[in-house]
Amino acid sequence: MGGARLRGEVTVTGAKNSVLKLMAAALLAPGRTVLTDVPHILDVEIMAELLRRLGCDVSHDSGGATVAIDVPERLEHRADYDLVRRMRASITVLGPLLARCGVVDVALPGGDNIGSRGLDMHIAGLQRLGASVTSEHGYLIAHAEAGLRGASIWLDFPSVGATETLLMAASLAQGRTVIDNAAREPEIVDICSMLTEMGADISGAGSSTLEINGVEVLRPVEHATVPDRIVAGTWAVAAVMTRGDITVRGARPEHLDIALDKLVTAGAQVTMVEDGFRVTMDARPTAVDIVTLPYPGFPTDLQPQFIALNAIAEGAALVTENLFEARFRFVHELVRLGADVQTEGHHALVRGRTTLSGAPVEATDIRAGAGLVLAGLVAEGETTVHEVHHIDRGYAGFVEDLKRLGADVRRTGAPT
Ligand code: UD1
Repeated sequence: MGGARLRGEVTVTGAKNSVLKLMAAALLAPGRTVLTDVPHILDVEIMAELLRRLGCDVSHDSGGATVAIDVPERLEHRADYDLVRRMRASITVLGPLLARCGVVDVALPGGDNIGSRGLDMHIAGLQRLGASVTSEHGYLIAHAEAGLRGASIWLDFPSVGATETLLMAASLAQGRTVIDNAAREPEIVDICSMLTEMGADISGAGSSTLEINGVEVLRPVEHATVPDRIVAGTWAVAAVMTRGDITVRGARPEHLDIALDKLVTAGAQVTMVEDGFRVTMDARPTAVDIVTLPYPGFPTDLQPQFIALNAIAEGAALVTENLFEARFRFVHELVRLGADVQTEGHHALVRGRTTLSGAPVEATDIRAGAGLVLAGLVAEGETTVHEVHHIDRGYAGFVEDLKRLGADVRRTGAPT
C-alpha cells in the first residue's frame, strides 16, 4: 500500500556481487575458507550448492552470516546447466577451476533478463593466459593442463566478470600478468584483498591496471565481505521517494559518491554518520539525469530505482543505460503504474508525475524488482509485485526491513 513515509534505521550486509566471487575464490586454496558478513540471499544458496557439487563442504551459522567452505585437494571441474541457468554468476568458477584443475566445463549461462552479457572477454583473456577454449553442447570447455602462463591482457571494456575471472586465473599462473582497462568496482577491490590475504601478489586494486605475479599455492583465509552499495543505495532512494528519513548503517558512502550526489541534486539531505549515512527528504524530489557507466560512474544496478524516483519527480530527466541493453524492460511495468517514460535505444525520457496508481506488476530482474517496490511505496492504493524471487536473489529480509521503516507491505507466498 502506497503512502507511508519511511523512517528509521536499516543495516546493510555484505554485497551479493562480492560474496559470490569470494566463494568462488575459495576454490583456489585447499582447506577451510571462512567468509563473514554474508547476505542471506538465494544466490548464496545457489553458489553453495555449486561448490558442494565441485566437492566442497559448505556450512553456515544459524543466521547465515558466516559461511565456511572446506575445499578438497581434488575438485570436480564441471558446473552443470541446472545451476548456471539459475545464476549467471556461477561462471565465476571458470577461472579458479581452470587454475586448480587444468580443465573446466561450465554451462553457458542464462541468468538475469538484462541483455546478452557475452563471455568473449573472459575467453580471450584465458586464451592469452595459455588456455584452449571451445564450446560444445551448451558448455564452455577450457584446458590448460600444463598450467596457465602470465600475459598482458587488454580488456575491450572494464568488465567486472572478466576482470574477476582473469584475476583468479592469473593468481596461480606462472609469471606476471597485467590486466589493462580492468574494472575498478569496490567488489574488485574486495576480491583483490582476499586474494592478497590468501598469498597472491596483486598490485593496482581499484585502478585500471592490475598486475599479478603468479604464485604456486594460495592458502585459505577468513575474510569479511564488503558492504552492499546497491542495497544501501536502494534505501537512500526509498528515503527520497517516500519523503522519509532513513539512516543506513554498515554502508560505505564513499562507494556511492555519484548516486548520493544525485540525490542531493534531487533535493535530499545526505549526512554522514559513524558507520554509514542518513538521507532525509521533506519535499517532492526534482528529476535528475543519469548515465550508467563502469565504476566510479553511476551504477547500472541503481538505474531502475532512479527511474522510479524520476517517475514521481518534478520535471523531466534523461536516463542513459550504457551497460545492459535490456534493462529498460522494466519500464513497461512502471508504465502500468502510470509512469510517463519513453525509451529510445539506450535512452529513457522520464517525465515526472505527481502520482502513480497501484497495479499488479512483474519483476523482470533483481534491481527492476526493487525499483517496482519503491514505486509501489508511493503509488496510490495497492501494488502487487509478482515474481519476487528475483528480489530474493539480492535483498536479504527486504520486506521485514520495509515494515520496520513503517511501510505497509506484506509478502504473500514463501520465499523460494
Ligand atoms: C556485474 C554484476 C552486475 C552489474 C555489472 C556491472 C555480479 C554478479 N553482477 O555483472 O550486477 O550490473 O557487473 O556493474 O557481480 N560483456 C561482454 N563480454 C564479456 C563480459 C562482459 O560483452 O566477456 C559486456 C556485458 O554484456 C555487459 C557489459 O559488458 O554489457 C558489462 O558486463 P560486466 O561488467 O562483465 O558485468 P557482470 O560481471 O556480468
